[in-house]
Amino acid sequence: MSSLHGNFPIRSGRALAITAAAAVSVGLLSLVGCKDQSKPGAGSTAPGNQATDGGSAVSGDTILIGEYGSMTGDNSSFGIQNDAGVRLAVDEINAAGGIERDGKKYKIKIELEDDQSKSENAETAVKRLIDQKHVSAILGEVASSCSIAGGKICQKAGVPMISPSSTNVAVTKIGDYIFRVCFLDSYQAAVDARFAIDGLKAKRAAIFTNKDQSYSTGFRDEFEKAFTKYGGTIVVKQTYSDKDTDYRGQLTALKAANPEVILVPGYYKDASTIAKQARELGITVPLLGGDGWSDSQLLELGGKAMDGCYFSDHMSIKDPKKVVQDFVKAYTTKFASDAKMEKLPSTMAALGYDAAKILFDAIKRAKSLDKKDIRDAVADTKSYDGVTGSISINKDRNADKSAVVIAVKSGAFDYQATVPNPDQPLK
Ligand code: PHE
Repeated sequence: MSSLHGNFPIRSGRALAITAAAAVSVGLLSLVGCKDQSKPGAGSTAPGNQATDGGSAVSGDTILIGEYGSMTGDNSSFGIQNDAGVRLAVDEINAAGGIERDGKKYKIKIELEDDQSKSENAETAVKRLIDQKHVSAILGEVASSCSIAGGKICQKAGVPMISPSSTNVAVTKIGDYIFRVCFLDSYQAAVDARFAIDGLKAKRAAIFTNKDQSYSTGFRDEFEKAFTKYGGTIVVKQTYSDKDTDYRGQLTALKAANPEVILVPGYYKDASTIAKQARELGITVPLLGGDGWSDSQLLELGGKAMDGCYFSDHMSIKDPKKVVQDFVKAYTTKFASDAKMEKLPSTMAALGYDAAKILFDAIKRAKSLDKKDIRDAVADTKSYDGVTGSISINKDRNADKSAVVIAVKSGAFDYQATVPNPDQPLK
């Protein structure tokens, strides 16, 4: 496993804008009860608690929170890492005695549903959390297609949902109960476009999209808009689908158009295979991706083929800010002896942690524990000092944050640049 080694060069002060978070300590509380979230106050929820009645799943001193994620299937590395971040946040709050409200302390219990990385399962997973577990709020999903499927159910039932990382523009447009703590693809894709033009001096781009993923198609459209606006030309576009494993036909067509950069807005599993096959076919230009590449599996599966490629991401764990380094320390302490876990946290783990902590903060501030009041408190989140940056929920229920560009060098991730405003030329 070779995640996130390498340097973290701070170039012309721009790294300081990686995230706008103030250096506030996350507070390293003693980490107890790591594995078993079902312990505190496990058991029943308020009977007859219909999702639409505004009531909340509070049983005695325990608040039930739902989480749905890709624990197995194509994006399982995302699901597992995101869940690790959520578990860390839960352990910390419970170790501190829980969430204090009106002189009473409430423990948090997570109900986790695996959607196997499939949007149709995401829908049933969310229904189960709402109808059978009667949760007060929901964390998830990572992938945009799953968040769109699950979000529609949350909205209909009036259960607040926070996606840690779904960047497709459509996610929060579902309605007023759907939030996210990450930036949008309209911004992230523009960052890639700006980096291609100014950082790579590439004016001719090709795009290779997964047509089955909203994340991928949305990213393509946003990149095309921005790249053209910044003076570039899209010379060729090709697509593939989730089930494809041989991309040589499309790659040959991409090569024939002689691009200077190829955008591959898919997830790490596709991107690593595509990179390998592209290099075999003699394609030497850089491949460019988005946060969907942000997993150490990209390096493990792609090997040397990934060297010289770049992707936009939410943060770098090499960021020296205290809030980031406290998180890295807490994560490594908790998972050091767990052979199944990555030794260092991924971006996904950080986003899962931030999403959970923002929800707990909202529960603490909410007028009551009704879902509507929890929703209103999430909407009121301002300047929360997260690991992935300062998080304020805007009127569209999104978070305005900066992206970084990560380079793959000698089989490792390396900070490359921060692009706070892609409409401005990169210095
Ligand atoms: N942004 C991706 C999506 O919307 C998910 C993702 C986020 C993956 C962060 C990795 C890291 O589907």
